[in-house]
Amino acid sequence: MANPAIEPLVANAWYLAAWSAELPDFEPGRQPIARTIMNQPLVLFRDAAGTAAALEDRCCHRAAPLHLGQVVNEGLQCGYHGMTFGADGACTVNPGEDPAGHAVRSFPTVERQRMVWIWPGDPARADPSEIVDYPWHDLAEEWPFRYERFELDCNFMLVMDALMDQTHLGYVHAKTIGGTPEFHNAAGQITTRTENGVRIVRHVLDHPPPPTFTKGMAFTGNIDRIAEFDYVAPASVRQFTTAMDVDRGAVENPDQPGTFRFRLFHHATPATDTRCHYFWSVANGYRQDDPQAAQDLYDDIYPTFLEDKVVLEAQQQSILRDPDRPLRLRDHDTGVSGAHRALAAFVRRAKGKRPAPAIAAE
Ligand SMILES: [Fe+2]
Repeated sequence: MANPAIEPLVANAWYLAAWSAELPDFEPGRQPIARTIMNQPLVLFRDAAGTAAALEDRCCHRAAPLHLGQVVNEGLQCGYHGMTFGADGACTVNPGEDPAGHAVRSFPTVERQRMVWIWPGDPARADPSEIVDYPWHDLAEEWPFRYERFELDCNFMLVMDALMDQTHLGYVHAKTIGGTPEFHNAAGQITTRTENGVRIVRHVLDHPPPPTFTKGMAFTGNIDRIAEFDYVAPASVRQFTTAMDVDRGAVENPDQPGTFRFRLFHHATPATDTRCHYFWSVANGYRQDDPQAAQDLYDDIYPTFLEDKVVLEAQQQSILRDPDRPLRLRDHDTGVSGAHRALAAFVRRAKGKRPAPAIAAE
């Protein structure tokens, strides 16, 4: 079995290719986006009908990268000789010659919930119902959000691992969302297997609020923090975090209006084996009428994830130097272990093999 920190890439899966807002409304002359996903250089654009499209970044004529071209009414025009391709990859314009029979590879794309998803694998198996659901992006009044994309020099699964392992917060993120290590190490954690992943729920109780939390809400003393991380194979984590004063019954009822609540969507799209696009959005569920609150939360989370970037990229280099040594602890890494088991089951299904027998939750 491959080392869990350099998980092989799975082509038959939906990956986040871009935030919808990265592909603005159609306008002739716009530049497309170049982005490598699953070792495949792609070009992303929005056509005249408003459809988000993904094509291989290579013209079928002389192999010029299509990202050097521009969007026109008929599709994406190569910057070399003007051959133009529609969202389905078919050549629509071939200046001076017949366009029929010419095409570039296109990839199934689906746009929903402010995200553009791509299926790099066998197009016949692309089922949009398998895209991870994140309805909060469509509830922007209740959950106003900001979004970002980082490029990280690490395998996509190291990002998932960091999210499913929350004991690093007290060390890596002391200045923002962390708090002291002893509270995280003493936290209760419930790990449960889900249909296509694993969920951890953490109870970090009766501890002083960390800096990001006190910026968001005026607490009177110590807080209880409940954090849920829902890994959905292969590459998504849905996070819900809430914090409140210790006498408000956080464990029994974590989702209360008027508490410090935020949601994060995380997705790590493989670029190569050891490089990924880390997409994240952060939504404020506590001062929804205050645009500055969402911005302040984003401004605090951004350096937090840069802190992760430093560790994850260095960790990847360390692992590559000696990839066969074990990487997990018995208790703190039940979320990480569960995520890798869920990914292995996903890979078996993606390859068309029978799923493994059910694994009991830890
Ligand atoms: Fe982190």
